Amino acid sequence: MSADARKRAAAEAALEWVKDGMVVGVGTGSTVNHFIDCLVSMRQRIKGAVSSSQASTARLQAAGIEVMDLNSVGELEVYVDGADEATRHLQLIKGGGAALTREKIVAAASQRFVCIVDDSKLVDVLGRFPLPVEVVPMARSYVARQLVRLGGQPVYREGVVTDNGNVILDVHNLEITDPAALEGEINQLAGVVCNGLFARRPADVLVIAGASGITTLKR
Ligand code: 5RP
Repeated sequence: MSADARKRAAAEAALEWVKDGMVVGVGTGSTVNHFIDCLVSMRQRIKGAVSSSQASTARLQAAGIEVMDLNSVGELEVYVDGADEATRHLQLIKGGGAALTREKIVAAASQRFVCIVDDSKLVDVLGRFPLPVEVVPMARSYVARQLVRLGGQPVYREGVVTDNGNVILDVHNLEITDPAALEGEINQLAGVVCNGLFARRPADVLVIAGASGITTLKR
């Protein structure tokens, strides 16, 4: 089974958490693109979606699904998104698609965060995937120096501007022994908008698609 087929399988399995009349929180990325494609079958039964990126908004709208403003919707019952890495404790690294800040906002505003991954994303310890950090442009060098002090090797993601007008530093070689502490520490740096650790608000459900089928972990 190809990686893409496993992503599709995870996306299909996530439909179980989508109920009639819901406004569905929708993340970003290739796995979520499959989810949006699957959601089309429920288009008439849901109220709409709150999107975490311009890319997902465009795909949702092209599929005929209404995209709503989080401010007018309030708390969401469910948020479905992918991840770059996930542990069995349902802590994540996200932001490979540079949408981490809006993803974190929609996750925070949701009662249940259903994370959908293929089994290549499952790790024992977070950090093999470089940690994305969204930074206000003028603070890029300052934040990079602070990230070096924390033991990482930040690399500027050239040519990428986030939906919020900021830049991304991808931090390599971090030793992430305490993800929640590091998430807080990096967020305290002046100029950091958000980092891709989802440890303080981890997923509630992790849907993992592998060669032998779907495994679901819950908090
Ligand atoms: C975007 C994300 C994505 O969820 C993450 O990069 C996984 O993407 P994909 O499903 O394409 O592997 O965090 O900012």
